[in-house]
Amino acid sequence: MQFTTQFAPPHEVQADWLVVGLWEDEPLGGPLAGLDARMERQLSRLVERGDIAAKPKETTPLYEPRGLAADRALVVGLGPRAKSDQAGLFNFGAVAARTITTKACERVACVLPEGVPNLDRETIAALVGSGLWHGSEGAGLRKTKPDRFAPKEFCLVASSAEDRAVVERGARRAEVEGRAVSLARELVNLPPCDLYPETFADRARHVAQQTGIECMVLDERDLAAERMHALLAVARGSDRPPRLVVLRYQGRAGAATLGLVGKGVTFDSGGLSLKTTEQMVDMKCDMAGAAAVLSATQALVQQKVPVNIVGLLALVENLPSGKAMKLGDVLHARNGKTIEVLNTDAEGRLILADALGYAVDQRVNHLVDLATLTGSCIVALGMDVAGLMSNDDAWSARVHAAARAAGERLWPLPMDAQYSEMIKSDVADIKNTGGSRWAGAISAAKFLEEFVGGTPWAHLDIAGPAWAEKDNAVRSSGGTGFGVRTLTELARRYAE
Ligand code: BES
Ligand code: MN
Ligand code: ZN
Repeated sequence: MQFTTQFAPPHEVQADWLVVGLWEDEPLGGPLAGLDARMERQLSRLVERGDIAAKPKETTPLYEPRGLAADRALVVGLGPRAKSDQAGLFNFGAVAARTITTKACERVACVLPEGVPNLDRETIAALVGSGLWHGSEGAGLRKTKPDRFAPKEFCLVASSAEDRAVVERGARRAEVEGRAVSLARELVNLPPCDLYPETFADRARHVAQQTGIECMVLDERDLAAERMHALLAVARGSDRPPRLVVLRYQGRAGAATLGLVGKGVTFDSGGLSLKTTEQMVDMKCDMAGAAAVLSATQALVQQKVPVNIVGLLALVENLPSGKAMKLGDVLHARNGKTIEVLNTDAEGRLILADALGYAVDQRVNHLVDLATLTGSCIVALGMDVAGLMSNDDAWSARVHAAARAAGERLWPLPMDAQYSEMIKSDVADIKNTGGSRWAGAISAAKFLEEFVGGTPWAHLDIAGPAWAEKDNAVRSSGGTGFGVRTLTELARRYAE
């Protein structure tokens, strides 16, 4: 897949499909009025008769449409203009692509919506383009016969020659970010027999080489030398050794450094606190945070964002065995704190404890971690919204704003001091569970906070949105790539 741009009246655009968006409860304006005239008012008649309501995610295919150079048209509802936002534009592209790519075709052209309130044309192009890319891919990595067919070319149709130059920039952004999100989704969708700490680290090294990112991989001996005994304790139950991938990018010497840390549990069985089959079935997704960090780093380096990044992927497998950590074990984390293990299924916070400690020692100025950390966060916020927890309100607000601009959903959860009571231990400094069913996402975040020193830090619990159990109108089941676009946007803003 690649993006191109074109300035032409929509009816002249040659393509297998011409995608056009309609605003709800509005007469056809801008380039659509001309298109409608060429189509002998077919569009406006469909609207008048109520066949097209232009609700969000509504699609109407028109085969061999009148008066168009394109073979087919797809009319996609945009909803009311006043309610349009970043996520709505992404969904417009995504729902169109999901409709079209069930069959093979070469060239899809998309007329970019006009008059979107509060958004510039580059951003509109980037959001719609990201959606088109996202909707073209499914989870069927290992199917012998594919069930989804990505087109060769997406052409974004601009409304003037000047507009085309701006749209072109958005198209480049969509292409880079589309590739990055695809990488994250692929990594999450890969079966755990193929993706485990060593192979994930190999892949990261490969990506780093291709992209021009400095990459260092710490193996189990390096990790012991670095005193990462909490991470090593989780890894011990598996025959597959752990890895810590350290990505470094210097986009602007002397400027502040942004630290990104991802949970990379390539399979979470729960360990001795074994999950049930039902809880375990999708646990190859437990490395989605690490996948997002690698992918976002690739995207921002390809875009030459002038920012300094340290990206850490904490890679382990959480399995039960004769060597596995036990309930009651006390671990010595890298930063010197002792941790009582009361549930081996709360393994994410153990590996992040050491990875966050390592990040702080790299003197990052700000930190973000992404982790499929708790089922509690899904109870609190559902499948589409990630939890945002932080030790710094200003930093949290910046992360939140970047997510909003990227069209991804975060919601803050409180971090009041009294939540720390939940992780007090009788025998060690802290314990690795909150000890009750309540506020599990927050007690996990409070645990992580013990390892970030005073560094402004934001924790994204992506347990819900990183993984989709079922297909829906805008994406397939499986890995979603959640967080990649938020991190890329955050890094872009961080550079300013
Ligand atoms: N990886 C899971 C969290 C998870 C659950 C991610 C569902 C995606 C979907 C994590 O390691 C875990 O098992 N958390 C436990 C913590 C508990 C033992 C304190 C949980 O949420 O139940
Ligand atoms: Mn777990
Ligand atoms: Zn886990």
